[in-house]
Amino acid sequence: MQPTFDVLDAIERQAEACDHIGSPLYTTLLRGLAADHRAGGVTRDLLESASERPQHDAIPLRYLAIGHRLALAGSAQDLARHYPSCGGEWHGADPTRDFLALVHARRADFVDGLTRQVQTNEVARAVPLACGLAHLQQMFALPLRTFELGASAGLLSRLAWFRIEMPFAACGPADARLHFGPEWFTTPPHTLPALLDVVHQEAVDLTPIDVATSAGRIAIQSFLWPDQLERIDRLRAAMVIAEEHPLQVDADDAGAWLQRRLAVADGATTVVFHSIVWQYLPPPTRRQLRATLTAVGATATRTAPLCWLRMEPATATHADLRATVWDGCSQPSEHHLADVGYHGHNLSWLA
Ligand SMILES: C[S@@+](CC[C@H](N)C(=O)[O-])C[C@H]1O[C@@H](n2cnc3c(N)ncnc32)[C@H](O)[C@@H]1O
Repeated sequence: MQPTFDVLDAIERQAEACDHIGSPLYTTLLRGLAADHRAGGVTRDLLESASERPQHDAIPLRYLAIGHRLALAGSAQDLARHYPSCGGEWHGADPTRDFLALVHARRADFVDGLTRQVQTNEVARAVPLACGLAHLQQMFALPLRTFELGASAGLLSRLAWFRIEMPFAACGPADARLHFGPEWFTTPPHTLPALLDVVHQEAVDLTPIDVATSAGRIAIQSFLWPDQLERIDRLRAAMVIAEEHPLQVDADDAGAWLQRRLAVADGATTVVFHSIVWQYLPPPTRRQLRATLTAVGATATRTAPLCWLRMEPATATHADLRATVWDGCSQPSEHHLADVGYHGHNLSWLA
């Protein structure tokens, strides 16, 4: 097969992105894999046929995730010794040779894994989402019923058990396993309730990852970068919280699921929420979601309000946190609550 150079371009761009975002290990490895591709090695052989759109399908990240998964599972000792996430150490040595040896040894795993989409669950998005839920809780002074769309492993649906600490207020249990401090905020909200009062929760994803299983826990970790230990530690803490507070993430299309499940309830604020999901939804699903929210919103009242809270991309560098609120008025109200980095950092509260 003639190489298209799209794959090579995707690998080189991913190396730059890793350099920019702070994974020197993956930058080094991707540069090594780009060299293997240029030399006609196994990287070219496997990745050229993996997708028509290697950039869009994040083929280089899928490739790296398979190696990481095998290392996390204890099936790739030579690679694992480079990966801090697996108890290894990285001091700048090039892991490419060990990665390629693994590809040769476990080729079938790589062929199979390349068909699997990259699927993360970014736990730090709890910072903006918790602030948004806190705002909605305070707006109506009612407990919350939450419906999360595109929940992945459902870890953000557990955010009531995380603790958010600002200089003069904190939200969440004092003994929470997972803390986010003032460094996450550029401009914090003025107040936060001591606890999020969540009385009912549901969640859906097209392909949920079940972190109650060992395979699920390894899969969700494999999509993170092995030298980003803080992110991995947060993910691991969230998985322990998930074990303590079980929640099933239904496997379904968000549009069909919400249409079947959503209703308002008197004495509670019903919140449909999602983060970095909208761009992945096909147009019919988006239309169905809007139609369901509008129809159920028409039944909302001051004592049974409906809110649609979402953190979705606004520019190349940041996302918006927005809410639409139906509470019985003739028109829903729109609120631009915050600007925030894609991974939940640099939160600038606007409401
Ligand atoms: C980028 S991830 C975001 C996951 C999570 N919300 C977070 O912020 O970490 C996007 C998620 O949307 C899910 N998804 C894509 N299409 C979907 C659909 N039609 N219905 C439900 N979930 C969908 C994917 O499976 C994936 O878990």
